Amino acid sequence: MTSHWFVNLVYLVSAVFFIFGLKMLAHPKTAVRGNFLSALGMLLAIIITLLDRRIISFEVIIAGLIVGAGIGAFLALKVPMTGMPQMVGLLNGFGGGASLLVAGAALFEASYLSEVMTNQFLIATVASGIIGSVTFWGSMVAASKLQGWIEEKPILFKGHHIVNIILLTLALISGIWLILHPSITWFYWILVIFASILGVLLVTPIGGADMPVVICLLNSYSGLAAAATGFVLNNNVLIISGSLVGASGIILTNLMCKAMNRSLTNVLFGGFGAEVVTKTDDIYAGRVKSTAPEEVAILLNSAKRVVIVPGYGMAVAQAQHAVRDLTNQLESKGVEVEFGIHPVAGRMPGHMNVLLAEADISYDKLKEMDEINPTMVQTDVAIVLGANDVVNPVARTDPKSPIAGMPIIDVDKAKTVIVIKRSLSPGFAGIPNPLFAADNTLMLFGDGKKMIIEIISALKEM
Ligand code: TAP
Repeated sequence: MTSHWFVNLVYLVSAVFFIFGLKMLAHPKTAVRGNFLSALGMLLAIIITLLDRRIISFEVIIAGLIVGAGIGAFLALKVPMTGMPQMVGLLNGFGGGASLLVAGAALFEASYLSEVMTNQFLIATVASGIIGSVTFWGSMVAASKLQGWIEEKPILFKGHHIVNIILLTLALISGIWLILHPSITWFYWILVIFASILGVLLVTPIGGADMPVVICLLNSYSGLAAAATGFVLNNNVLIISGSLVGASGIILTNLMCKAMNRSLTNVLFGGFGAEVVTKTDDIYAGRVKSTAPEEVAILLNSAKRVVIVPGYGMAVAQAQHAVRDLTNQLESKGVEVEFGIHPVAGRMPGHMNVLLAEADISYDKLKEMDEINPTMVQTDVAIVLGANDVVNPVARTDPKSPIAGMPIIDVDKAKTVIVIKRSLSPGFAGIPNPLFAADNTLMLFGDGKKMIIEIISALKEM
Protein backbone atom coordinates (compact mmCIF):
# COMPACT_ATOMS: atom_id res chain seq x y z
CA MET A 1 0.00 0.00 0.00
CA THR A 2 1.33 3.46 -0.98
CA SER A 3 2.18 5.72 1.96
CA HIS A 4 -0.51 8.17 3.03
CA TRP A 5 1.49 11.41 2.59
CA PHE A 6 2.54 10.42 -0.93
CA VAL A 7 -1.06 9.71 -1.95
CA ASN A 8 -2.17 13.11 -0.65
CA LEU A 9 0.76 14.79 -2.41
CA VAL A 10 -0.34 13.27 -5.74
CA TYR A 11 -3.94 14.30 -4.99
CA LEU A 12 -2.68 17.84 -4.39
CA VAL A 13 -0.89 17.82 -7.77
CA SER A 14 -4.11 16.55 -9.41
CA ALA A 15 -6.08 19.35 -7.73
CA VAL A 16 -3.60 21.95 -9.05
CA PHE A 17 -4.02 20.46 -12.55
CA PHE A 18 -7.83 20.71 -12.19
CA ILE A 19 -7.69 24.36 -11.11
CA PHE A 20 -5.31 25.43 -13.90
CA GLY A 21 -7.31 23.28 -16.35
CA LEU A 22 -10.54 25.08 -15.37
CA LYS A 23 -8.85 28.47 -15.70
CA MET A 24 -7.64 27.58 -19.20
CA LEU A 25 -11.15 26.44 -20.20
CA ALA A 26 -12.25 30.06 -19.82
CA HIS A 27 -10.72 31.00 -23.19
CA PRO A 28 -11.24 29.18 -26.50
CA LYS A 29 -7.53 29.44 -27.36
CA THR A 30 -6.39 27.60 -24.22
CA ALA A 31 -9.48 25.41 -23.74
CA VAL A 32 -8.13 22.28 -25.47
CA ARG A 33 -4.93 22.35 -23.38
CA GLY A 34 -7.02 23.05 -20.26
CA ASN A 35 -9.16 20.00 -20.96
CA PHE A 36 -6.03 17.89 -21.45
CA LEU A 37 -4.49 19.16 -18.20
CA SER A 38 -7.64 18.36 -16.21
CA ALA A 39 -7.84 14.89 -17.78
CA LEU A 40 -4.18 14.32 -16.83
CA GLY A 41 -5.00 15.36 -13.25
CA MET A 42 -7.86 12.83 -13.20
CA LEU A 43 -5.63 10.08 -14.63
CA LEU A 44 -3.04 10.72 -11.89
CA ALA A 45 -5.79 10.64 -9.24
CA ILE A 46 -7.22 7.38 -10.59
CA ILE A 47 -3.82 5.63 -10.79
CA ILE A 48 -2.83 6.59 -7.25
CA THR A 49 -6.27 5.62 -5.89
CA LEU A 50 -6.01 2.20 -7.56
CA LEU A 51 -2.58 1.70 -5.99
CA ASP A 52 -3.74 2.93 -2.60
CA ARG A 53 -7.19 1.46 -2.00
CA ARG A 54 -8.27 -1.98 -0.92
CA ILE A 55 -8.73 -3.29 -4.41
CA ILE A 56 -10.72 -6.50 -4.43
CA SER A 57 -10.33 -7.38 -8.07
CA PHE A 58 -8.47 -5.50 -10.79
CA GLU A 59 -10.18 -7.75 -13.36
CA VAL A 60 -13.61 -6.29 -12.52
CA ILE A 61 -12.23 -2.73 -12.65
CA ILE A 62 -10.55 -3.35 -16.03
CA ALA A 63 -13.73 -4.98 -17.39
CA GLY A 64 -15.71 -1.94 -16.18
CA LEU A 65 -13.20 0.40 -17.83
CA ILE A 66 -13.47 -1.44 -21.15
CA VAL A 67 -17.29 -1.52 -21.12
CA GLY A 68 -17.57 2.14 -19.97
CA ALA A 69 -14.95 3.44 -22.41
CA GLY A 70 -16.58 1.42 -25.21
CA ILE A 71 -20.03 2.92 -24.56
CA GLY A 72 -18.49 6.40 -24.14
CA ALA A 73 -16.51 6.19 -27.39
CA PHE A 74 -19.54 4.82 -29.27
CA LEU A 75 -21.77 7.66 -28.02
CA ALA A 76 -19.10 10.32 -28.68
CA LEU A 77 -18.78 9.14 -32.29
CA LYS A 78 -22.49 8.57 -32.87
CA VAL A 79 -24.14 11.55 -31.15
CA PRO A 80 -24.42 14.48 -33.58
CA MET A 81 -23.23 17.96 -32.57
CA THR A 82 -26.88 18.94 -32.14
CA GLY A 83 -27.35 16.12 -29.60
CA MET A 84 -24.47 17.26 -27.36
CA PRO A 85 -26.63 19.15 -24.81
CA GLN A 86 -28.71 16.00 -24.15
CA MET A 87 -25.46 14.05 -23.85
CA VAL A 88 -24.10 16.59 -21.34
CA GLY A 89 -27.40 16.30 -19.46
CA LEU A 90 -27.10 12.49 -19.37
CA LEU A 91 -23.47 12.67 -18.19
CA ASN A 92 -24.46 15.00 -15.33
CA GLY A 93 -27.15 12.48 -14.40
CA PHE A 94 -24.75 9.53 -14.47
CA GLY A 95 -22.39 11.48 -12.18
CA GLY A 96 -25.21 11.89 -9.66
CA GLY A 97 -26.33 8.26 -10.09
CA ALA A 98 -22.77 6.96 -9.56
CA SER A 99 -22.41 9.04 -6.38
CA LEU A 100 -25.64 7.72 -4.86
CA LEU A 101 -24.73 4.10 -5.70
CA VAL A 102 -21.18 4.39 -4.32
CA ALA A 103 -22.42 6.02 -1.10
CA GLY A 104 -25.12 3.31 -0.80
CA ALA A 105 -22.55 0.54 -1.37
CA ALA A 106 -20.26 2.05 1.32
CA LEU A 107 -23.20 2.10 3.75
CA PHE A 108 -24.14 -1.53 3.08
CA GLU A 109 -20.51 -2.66 3.28
CA ALA A 110 -20.04 -0.90 6.63
CA SER A 111 -23.27 -2.43 7.92
CA TYR A 112 -22.33 -5.92 6.63
CA LEU A 113 -18.88 -5.74 8.25
CA SER A 114 -20.43 -4.24 11.42
CA GLU A 115 -18.02 -1.28 11.22
CA VAL A 116 -18.54 1.79 13.42
CA MET A 117 -20.23 4.48 11.32
CA THR A 118 -19.20 8.03 12.19
CA ASN A 119 -21.58 11.00 11.94
CA GLN A 120 -19.50 12.39 9.05
CA PHE A 121 -19.94 9.10 7.18
CA LEU A 122 -23.69 8.96 7.76
CA ILE A 123 -24.44 12.64 7.04
CA ALA A 124 -22.36 12.50 3.85
CA THR A 125 -24.14 9.29 2.79
CA VAL A 126 -27.54 10.93 3.26
CA ALA A 127 -26.39 14.06 1.35
CA SER A 128 -25.01 11.93 -1.47
CA GLY A 129 -28.22 9.87 -1.66
CA ILE A 130 -30.50 12.93 -1.80
CA ILE A 131 -28.41 15.13 -4.13
CA GLY A 132 -27.40 12.15 -6.32
CA SER A 133 -31.03 11.02 -6.81
CA VAL A 134 -32.26 14.55 -7.58
CA THR A 135 -29.39 14.97 -10.06
CA PHE A 136 -29.97 11.62 -11.77
CA TRP A 137 -33.71 11.92 -12.25
CA GLY A 138 -33.65 15.67 -12.90
CA SER A 139 -31.04 15.13 -15.62
CA MET A 140 -33.05 12.31 -17.19
CA VAL A 141 -36.06 14.64 -17.47
CA ALA A 142 -33.90 17.51 -18.80
CA ALA A 143 -32.23 15.26 -21.40
CA SER A 144 -35.62 13.84 -22.47
CA LYS A 145 -37.00 17.38 -22.85
CA LEU A 146 -34.02 18.42 -24.97
CA GLN A 147 -34.34 15.25 -27.07
CA GLY A 148 -38.05 15.93 -27.54
CA TRP A 149 -39.09 12.65 -25.86
CA ILE A 150 -41.26 14.55 -23.41
CA GLU A 151 -43.07 17.88 -23.66
CA GLU A 152 -40.57 20.77 -23.68
CA LYS A 153 -43.17 23.14 -22.23
CA PRO A 154 -43.46 23.47 -18.44
CA ILE A 155 -45.60 20.74 -16.85
CA LEU A 156 -46.98 22.23 -13.66
CA PHE A 157 -49.91 20.94 -11.61
CA LYS A 158 -51.83 22.66 -8.82
CA GLY A 159 -49.85 22.51 -5.58
CA HIS A 160 -46.72 21.36 -7.44
CA HIS A 161 -44.29 23.29 -5.26
CA ILE A 162 -46.01 22.16 -2.04
CA VAL A 163 -45.65 18.52 -3.15
CA ASN A 164 -41.94 19.23 -3.76
CA ILE A 165 -41.52 20.66 -0.27
CA ILE A 166 -43.29 17.59 1.22
CA LEU A 167 -41.04 15.24 -0.76
CA LEU A 168 -37.89 17.10 0.38
CA THR A 169 -39.11 16.96 3.99
CA LEU A 170 -39.81 13.20 3.73
CA ALA A 171 -36.37 12.58 2.19
CA LEU A 172 -34.73 14.58 5.01
CA ILE A 173 -36.75 12.75 7.71
CA SER A 174 -35.70 9.38 6.23
CA GLY A 175 -32.10 10.66 6.23
CA ILE A 176 -32.28 11.72 9.87
CA TRP A 177 -33.79 8.33 10.73
CA LEU A 178 -30.90 6.61 8.98
CA ILE A 179 -28.36 8.73 10.88
CA LEU A 180 -30.06 7.84 14.19
CA HIS A 181 -30.49 4.13 13.31
CA PRO A 182 -27.69 3.23 10.89
CA SER A 183 -28.37 -0.50 11.19
CA ILE A 184 -31.73 -0.06 9.38
CA THR A 185 -30.02 0.44 6.01
CA TRP A 186 -33.18 0.23 3.88
CA PHE A 187 -33.98 3.79 5.02
CA TYR A 188 -31.34 4.76 2.49
CA TRP A 189 -33.50 3.44 -0.35
CA ILE A 190 -36.58 5.16 1.09
CA LEU A 191 -34.81 8.52 0.98
CA VAL A 192 -33.56 7.70 -2.53
CA ILE A 193 -37.16 7.07 -3.67
CA PHE A 194 -38.45 10.38 -2.21
CA ALA A 195 -35.49 12.31 -3.66
CA SER A 196 -35.92 10.63 -7.07
CA ILE A 197 -39.57 11.72 -7.33
CA LEU A 198 -38.44 15.19 -6.20
CA GLY A 199 -35.79 15.21 -8.98
CA VAL A 200 -38.45 14.51 -11.63
CA LEU A 201 -40.91 17.08 -10.26
CA LEU A 202 -38.23 19.77 -9.90
CA VAL A 203 -37.44 19.75 -13.61
CA THR A 204 -40.84 19.09 -15.23
CA PRO A 205 -42.08 22.68 -14.56
CA ILE A 206 -38.99 24.16 -16.20
CA GLY A 207 -39.27 24.62 -19.91
CA GLY A 208 -39.19 27.06 -22.74
CA ALA A 209 -35.96 28.94 -22.85
CA ASP A 210 -34.95 28.16 -19.26
CA MET A 211 -33.41 24.74 -19.95
CA PRO A 212 -29.80 26.05 -20.17
CA VAL A 213 -30.03 27.24 -16.58
CA VAL A 214 -31.30 23.91 -15.32
CA ILE A 215 -28.59 21.96 -17.16
CA CYS A 216 -25.90 24.13 -15.48
CA LEU A 217 -27.59 23.72 -12.10
CA LEU A 218 -27.73 19.92 -12.45
CA ASN A 219 -24.06 20.00 -13.41
CA SER A 220 -23.39 21.79 -10.15
CA TYR A 221 -25.50 19.23 -8.21
CA SER A 222 -23.54 16.35 -9.74
CA GLY A 223 -20.37 17.98 -8.34
CA LEU A 224 -21.93 18.39 -4.89
CA ALA A 225 -23.04 14.74 -4.90
CA ALA A 226 -19.48 13.68 -5.79
CA ALA A 227 -18.04 15.90 -3.02
CA ALA A 228 -20.45 14.31 -0.50
CA THR A 229 -19.34 10.85 -1.67
CA GLY A 230 -15.74 12.04 -1.15
CA PHE A 231 -16.62 12.56 2.53
CA VAL A 232 -18.25 9.08 2.65
CA LEU A 233 -15.06 7.45 1.31
CA ASN A 234 -12.68 9.90 3.00
CA ASN A 235 -11.18 10.60 -0.40
CA ASN A 236 -9.64 14.08 -0.66
CA VAL A 237 -9.42 14.27 -4.44
CA LEU A 238 -13.11 13.40 -4.82
CA ILE A 239 -14.00 16.14 -2.33
CA ILE A 240 -11.84 18.66 -4.22
CA SER A 241 -12.96 17.73 -7.74
CA GLY A 242 -16.60 17.53 -6.66
CA SER A 243 -16.38 20.97 -5.05
CA LEU A 244 -14.76 22.43 -8.17
CA VAL A 245 -17.56 21.05 -10.37
CA GLY A 246 -20.16 22.26 -7.85
CA ALA A 247 -18.68 25.77 -7.70
CA SER A 248 -18.09 26.16 -11.45
CA GLY A 249 -21.62 24.86 -12.14
CA ILE A 250 -23.08 27.50 -9.81
CA ILE A 251 -21.00 30.25 -11.48
CA LEU A 252 -22.23 29.10 -14.91
CA THR A 253 -25.82 28.95 -13.62
CA ASN A 254 -25.47 32.52 -12.42
CA LEU A 255 -24.03 33.65 -15.78
CA MET A 256 -26.90 31.93 -17.63
CA CYS A 257 -29.48 33.55 -15.32
CA LYS A 258 -27.90 36.94 -16.02
CA ALA A 259 -27.84 36.25 -19.78
CA MET A 260 -31.57 35.54 -19.67
CA ASN A 261 -32.37 38.23 -17.13
CA ARG A 262 -33.89 35.67 -14.77
CA SER A 263 -33.39 35.02 -11.09
CA LEU A 264 -32.77 31.42 -10.09
CA THR A 265 -35.96 31.32 -8.00
CA ASN A 266 -37.88 32.55 -11.01
CA VAL A 267 -36.47 29.75 -13.18
CA LEU A 268 -37.04 27.03 -10.57
CA PHE A 269 -40.49 28.07 -9.40
CA GLY A 270 -41.82 30.19 -12.24
CA GLY A 271 -43.23 27.51 -14.54
CA PHE A 272 -42.96 30.16 -17.25
CA GLY A 273 -44.65 29.51 -20.55
CA ALA A 274 -47.10 26.93 -19.20
CA GLU A 275 -50.02 28.69 -20.82
CA VAL A 276 -48.50 30.10 -23.95
CA VAL A 277 -51.02 30.42 -26.73
CA THR A 278 -49.50 30.57 -30.18
CA LYS A 279 -51.56 32.77 -32.48
CA THR A 280 -49.29 32.86 -35.48
CA ASP A 281 -52.00 34.14 -37.87
CA ASP A 282 -52.33 37.45 -35.99
CA ILE A 283 -48.62 38.02 -36.33
CA TYR A 284 -47.63 36.70 -39.74
CA ALA A 285 -50.77 36.90 -41.94
CA GLY A 286 -49.95 38.82 -45.13
CA ARG A 287 -46.90 40.49 -43.63
CA VAL A 288 -44.07 38.04 -44.29
CA LYS A 289 -41.87 38.84 -47.31
CA SER A 290 -39.72 36.07 -48.75
CA THR A 291 -36.60 36.56 -50.82
CA ALA A 292 -34.13 34.58 -52.96
CA PRO A 293 -30.35 34.02 -52.68
CA GLU A 294 -29.71 36.27 -55.73
CA GLU A 295 -31.60 39.17 -54.12
CA VAL A 296 -29.64 38.69 -50.86
CA ALA A 297 -26.39 38.69 -52.85
CA ILE A 298 -27.31 42.08 -54.37
CA LEU A 299 -27.95 43.52 -50.90
CA LEU A 300 -24.68 42.11 -49.54
CA ASN A 301 -22.73 43.37 -52.55
CA SER A 302 -23.68 46.94 -51.76
CA ALA A 303 -23.34 46.65 -47.95
CA LYS A 304 -20.50 48.20 -45.94
CA ARG A 305 -21.16 46.33 -42.71
CA VAL A 306 -22.75 42.90 -42.23
CA VAL A 307 -23.50 41.17 -38.94
CA ILE A 308 -24.19 37.43 -38.88
CA VAL A 309 -26.22 36.11 -35.95
CA PRO A 310 -26.05 32.31 -35.79
CA GLY A 311 -28.42 30.09 -33.81
CA TYR A 312 -29.35 26.47 -33.30
CA GLY A 313 -30.31 26.11 -37.00
CA MET A 314 -26.68 26.75 -38.02
CA ALA A 315 -25.72 23.70 -35.93
CA VAL A 316 -28.50 21.60 -37.50
CA ALA A 317 -27.50 22.65 -41.01
CA GLN A 318 -23.76 22.36 -40.22
CA ALA A 319 -23.43 25.63 -42.10
CA GLN A 320 -20.33 26.94 -40.29
CA HIS A 321 -17.85 26.17 -43.09
CA ALA A 322 -20.12 27.77 -45.70
CA VAL A 323 -20.43 30.80 -43.39
CA ARG A 324 -16.63 31.09 -43.26
CA ASP A 325 -16.50 31.05 -47.10
CA LEU A 326 -19.19 33.75 -47.25
CA THR A 327 -17.28 35.86 -44.69
CA ASN A 328 -14.03 35.55 -46.70
CA GLN A 329 -15.81 36.46 -49.89
CA LEU A 330 -17.50 39.53 -48.41
CA GLU A 331 -14.23 40.68 -46.81
CA SER A 332 -12.46 40.33 -50.16
CA LYS A 333 -15.04 42.85 -51.46
CA GLY A 334 -14.20 45.25 -48.59
CA VAL A 335 -17.31 44.51 -46.51
CA GLU A 336 -16.84 44.52 -42.72
CA VAL A 337 -18.22 41.27 -41.25
CA GLU A 338 -18.80 40.53 -37.59
CA PHE A 339 -20.70 37.85 -35.67
CA GLY A 340 -23.20 38.55 -32.89
CA ILE A 341 -23.08 35.70 -30.37
CA HIS A 342 -25.93 35.36 -27.89
CA PRO A 343 -24.95 33.53 -24.67
CA VAL A 344 -27.80 31.01 -25.00
CA ALA A 345 -27.81 30.61 -28.79
CA GLY A 346 -27.87 26.94 -29.75
CA ARG A 347 -28.39 24.27 -27.13
CA MET A 348 -25.34 24.49 -24.88
CA PRO A 349 -23.09 27.21 -23.49
CA GLY A 350 -20.51 28.23 -26.10
CA HIS A 351 -22.29 26.20 -28.83
CA MET A 352 -21.85 28.85 -31.53
CA ASN A 353 -18.24 29.64 -30.52
CA VAL A 354 -17.32 25.96 -30.85
CA LEU A 355 -18.88 25.64 -34.31
CA LEU A 356 -17.36 28.86 -35.65
CA ALA A 357 -13.95 27.98 -34.18
CA GLU A 358 -14.21 24.58 -35.93
CA ALA A 359 -14.54 26.52 -39.21
CA ASP A 360 -11.46 28.65 -38.35
CA ILE A 361 -13.39 31.89 -38.03
CA SER A 362 -11.18 34.29 -36.06
CA TYR A 363 -12.22 34.88 -32.42
CA ASP A 364 -11.78 38.63 -32.96
CA LYS A 365 -14.83 38.64 -35.20
CA LEU A 366 -17.06 37.00 -32.57
CA LYS A 367 -18.71 39.76 -30.54
CA GLU A 368 -20.76 39.19 -27.42
CA MET A 369 -24.28 40.57 -27.24
CA ASP A 370 -23.38 43.69 -25.22
CA GLU A 371 -20.64 44.56 -27.68
CA ILE A 372 -22.58 43.96 -30.91
CA ASN A 373 -25.92 45.56 -29.93
CA PRO A 374 -24.77 49.22 -29.94
CA THR A 375 -23.39 48.66 -33.48
CA MET A 376 -26.63 47.26 -34.95
CA VAL A 377 -27.97 50.68 -36.04
CA GLN A 378 -24.88 51.13 -38.24
CA THR A 379 -25.33 47.67 -39.77
CA ASP A 380 -26.51 47.47 -43.37
CA VAL A 381 -27.47 43.79 -43.38
CA ALA A 382 -28.02 41.48 -40.42
CA ILE A 383 -28.10 37.80 -41.41
CA VAL A 384 -29.99 35.68 -38.88
CA LEU A 385 -28.86 32.14 -39.60
CA GLY A 386 -31.04 29.53 -37.92
CA ALA A 387 -31.59 31.75 -34.86
CA ASN A 388 -35.04 32.51 -33.54
CA ASP A 389 -35.58 33.02 -29.77
CA VAL A 390 -32.34 34.97 -29.33
CA VAL A 391 -33.54 37.64 -31.82
CA ASN A 392 -37.23 37.65 -30.85
CA PRO A 393 -38.35 41.23 -29.99
CA VAL A 394 -41.23 39.79 -27.93
CA ALA A 395 -38.67 39.40 -25.12
CA ARG A 396 -38.72 43.21 -24.85
CA THR A 397 -42.45 43.75 -25.31
CA ASP A 398 -44.52 40.92 -23.79
CA PRO A 399 -44.07 40.36 -20.03
CA LYS A 400 -46.12 37.11 -20.24
CA SER A 401 -43.87 35.53 -22.87
CA PRO A 402 -41.64 32.58 -21.86
CA ILE A 403 -38.63 34.67 -22.89
CA ALA A 404 -39.83 37.94 -21.28
CA GLY A 405 -36.94 40.09 -20.15
CA MET A 406 -34.27 37.98 -21.86
CA PRO A 407 -31.81 40.35 -23.54
CA ILE A 408 -31.79 39.70 -27.30
CA ILE A 409 -29.52 40.61 -30.19
CA ASP A 410 -31.13 43.72 -31.64
CA VAL A 411 -31.05 42.63 -35.29
CA ASP A 412 -34.31 44.50 -35.88
CA LYS A 413 -32.32 47.75 -35.61
CA ALA A 414 -30.24 46.93 -38.70
CA LYS A 415 -31.24 48.52 -42.04
CA THR A 416 -32.17 45.13 -43.53
CA VAL A 417 -32.60 41.78 -41.79
CA ILE A 418 -32.27 38.50 -43.69
CA VAL A 419 -33.65 35.53 -41.76
CA ILE A 420 -32.49 32.15 -43.07
CA LYS A 421 -34.59 29.21 -41.86
CA ARG A 422 -36.74 26.51 -43.40
CA SER A 423 -40.21 27.68 -42.35
CA LEU A 424 -42.03 29.96 -39.93
CA SER A 425 -41.83 27.31 -37.18
CA PRO A 426 -40.98 28.58 -33.73
CA GLY A 427 -37.67 27.98 -31.95
CA PHE A 428 -37.02 26.24 -28.64
CA ALA A 429 -39.38 28.47 -26.61
CA GLY A 430 -42.28 27.54 -28.93
CA ILE A 431 -43.48 31.09 -29.63
CA PRO A 432 -43.96 33.11 -32.83
CA ASN A 433 -41.45 35.79 -33.74
CA PRO A 434 -42.75 39.19 -34.96
CA LEU A 435 -39.28 39.86 -36.43
CA PHE A 436 -40.25 37.62 -39.38
CA ALA A 437 -43.10 40.03 -40.24
CA ALA A 438 -41.16 43.27 -39.64
CA ASP A 439 -40.95 45.87 -42.43
CA ASN A 440 -37.16 45.61 -42.73
CA THR A 441 -37.08 41.77 -42.69
CA LEU A 442 -36.78 39.42 -45.66
CA MET A 443 -37.19 35.67 -45.12
CA LEU A 444 -34.90 33.33 -47.05
CA PHE A 445 -36.63 29.97 -46.64
CA GLY A 446 -34.40 26.89 -46.90
CA ASP A 447 -31.67 24.88 -45.24
CA GLY A 448 -29.01 27.17 -43.72
CA LYS A 449 -26.01 25.61 -45.46
CA LYS A 450 -27.71 25.33 -48.86
CA MET A 451 -28.88 28.95 -48.76
CA ILE A 452 -25.44 30.30 -47.79
CA ILE A 453 -23.80 28.28 -50.60
CA GLU A 454 -26.35 29.69 -53.08
CA ILE A 455 -25.67 33.26 -51.87
CA ILE A 456 -21.93 32.66 -52.38
CA SER A 457 -22.53 31.41 -55.96
CA ALA A 458 -24.73 34.43 -56.70
CA LEU A 459 -22.05 36.78 -55.29
CA LYS A 460 -19.39 35.13 -57.48
CA GLU A 461 -21.42 35.93 -60.55
CA MET A 462 -21.49 39.66 -59.78
P1 TAP B 1 -34.07 28.50 -31.61
O1 TAP B 1 -34.87 29.61 -31.05
O2 TAP B 1 -34.25 27.15 -31.02
O3 TAP B 1 -34.41 28.46 -33.17
C1 TAP B 1 -33.68 27.68 -34.05
C2 TAP B 1 -34.26 27.85 -35.42
O4 TAP B 1 -33.40 27.15 -36.33
C3 TAP B 1 -35.65 27.22 -35.59
O5 TAP B 1 -36.65 28.21 -35.59
C4 TAP B 1 -35.56 26.45 -36.92
O6 TAP B 1 -36.55 26.94 -37.82
C5 TAP B 1 -34.17 26.81 -37.45
N1 TAP B 1 -33.54 25.66 -38.11
C6 TAP B 1 -33.52 24.37 -37.74
N2 TAP B 1 -32.86 23.64 -38.64
C7 TAP B 1 -32.44 24.49 -39.60
C8 TAP B 1 -31.70 24.32 -40.80
N3 TAP B 1 -31.26 23.11 -41.23
N4 TAP B 1 -31.43 25.40 -41.56
C9 TAP B 1 -31.88 26.64 -41.16
N5 TAP B 1 -32.59 26.85 -40.04
C10 TAP B 1 -32.88 25.78 -39.28
O7 TAP B 1 -32.52 28.82 -31.59
P2 TAP B 1 -31.71 30.03 -30.95
O8 TAP B 1 -32.17 31.33 -31.49
O9 TAP B 1 -30.28 29.64 -31.09
O10 TAP B 1 -32.13 30.03 -29.43
C11 TAP B 1 -31.71 29.03 -28.53
C12 TAP B 1 -32.90 28.57 -27.70
O11 TAP B 1 -32.58 27.34 -27.07
C13 TAP B 1 -33.22 29.55 -26.61
O12 TAP B 1 -34.59 29.53 -26.34
C14 TAP B 1 -32.44 28.97 -25.43
O13 TAP B 1 -32.91 29.37 -24.18
C15 TAP B 1 -32.64 27.49 -25.66
N6 TAP B 1 -31.61 26.64 -25.06
C16 TAP B 1 -30.33 27.07 -25.07
C17 TAP B 1 -29.37 26.29 -24.47
C18 TAP B 1 -27.98 26.86 -24.43
S1 TAP B 1 -27.11 26.68 -23.13
N7 TAP B 1 -27.51 27.52 -25.44
C19 TAP B 1 -29.69 25.03 -23.91
C20 TAP B 1 -31.02 24.60 -23.99
C21 TAP B 1 -31.99 25.42 -24.58
P3 TAP B 1 -37.06 26.03 -39.03
O14 TAP B 1 -37.51 24.73 -38.45
O15 TAP B 1 -38.16 26.84 -39.64
O16 TAP B 1 -35.91 25.85 -39.97
